Amino acid sequence: MGPKNKQESHNSPCLAVAIGGLELKNPLMTASGTFGYGEEFAPFVALNRLGAVIVKGLSLEPRSGNPPPRIMETPSGMLNAVGLQNVGARAFIAEKLPFLRQYNVAVIANIFGETVEEYQRVAEILSGAKGIHGIEINISCPNVNKGGLAFGARPDAAAEVTEKVRGETDLPLLVKLTPNVTDITEVALAVEAAGADAVSLINTLTGMSVDIELRRPHLANITGGLSGPAIRPIALRMVWQVANAVKIPVVGIGGIMSAADALEFLITGASAVQIGTANFIRPAATMEILDGIVNYMIRHGIGDITELIGSLNTNQAGEG
Ligand SMILES: Cc1cc2nc3c(=O)[nH]c(=O)nc-3n(C[C@H](O)[C@H](O)[C@H](O)COP(=O)(O)O)c2cc1C
Repeated sequence: MGPKNKQESHNSPCLAVAIGGLELKNPLMTASGTFGYGEEFAPFVALNRLGAVIVKGLSLEPRSGNPPPRIMETPSGMLNAVGLQNVGARAFIAEKLPFLRQYNVAVIANIFGETVEEYQRVAEILSGAKGIHGIEINISCPNVNKGGLAFGARPDAAAEVTEKVRGETDLPLLVKLTPNVTDITEVALAVEAAGADAVSLINTLTGMSVDIELRRPHLANITGGLSGPAIRPIALRMVWQVANAVKIPVVGIGGIMSAADALEFLITGASAVQIGTANFIRPAATMEILDGIVNYMIRHGIGDITELIGSLNTNQAGEG
């Protein structure tokens, strides 16, 4: 490439990334459960500018979730125990997906089941729908009694659900991991071997908070999932560990509020990032983060985002 072209490319850097066969125009995704079904955020966000929209977790039948209170603010974060409230896979296809089809954005369906068979059925139903470009298996929700963590906390169970869902779909398959384990790399390696195209991490950390006047938990569910900036250093450490353990792409999630936060994850080895709690605080957070990443790349003369991914220098200060 001649200097003229190079100069041009640096003024409008290439942001495209591939996540297991899924070509994204940029690495910015919305985290499941924090962006509704996309339509709710359309007044604030140019959906066409996102790499992907990941929708609220879908189950076979509609779910009303846990009783309130379901949300509690905590230092630098929030606890939620929504309990996977959703319209169900079929109603999503009939009522929500047509809106998203109008946009030139990858749609990833986040799925959930109480049994392996339910995960399979949901994957099968969604795979047949026009306008779904990938599936993310949630085996990491801390707020439900059945399913969720029961699969995500054990490498063998995580591998089984991944393998069975793999058998139902040819779509790119992401498996979303829980941080509520001793060694996240064991689960990541197990789902990679079972056919996952990528892993996304982290889901929320199990937490709790108490109203001391009433001596009652703030959440009706007693415990909830902690998200937001409070969890970012843990998420980043886990992305680092997993990126060094698996060969498939890693999608980083956890407390990303700014472009600088997103860049930390990309440099550490995430091929893409998901924005969660930030959407509740600033509905246009994804757009600001995207603009900030482009500015950073221009400032550093980086023409292609893939140069940045995993470029972390861990040499001691003074070395190389
Ligand atoms: C209110 C709420 C609902 C969520 N619902 C889901 C869900 O349905 N499926 C899922 O895989 N993760 C769900 N998550 C987890 C997020 O996608 C994300 O992994 C987590 O919040 C950490 O990212 P953050 O700190 O940027 O929010 C939910 C999180 C919140 C706060």
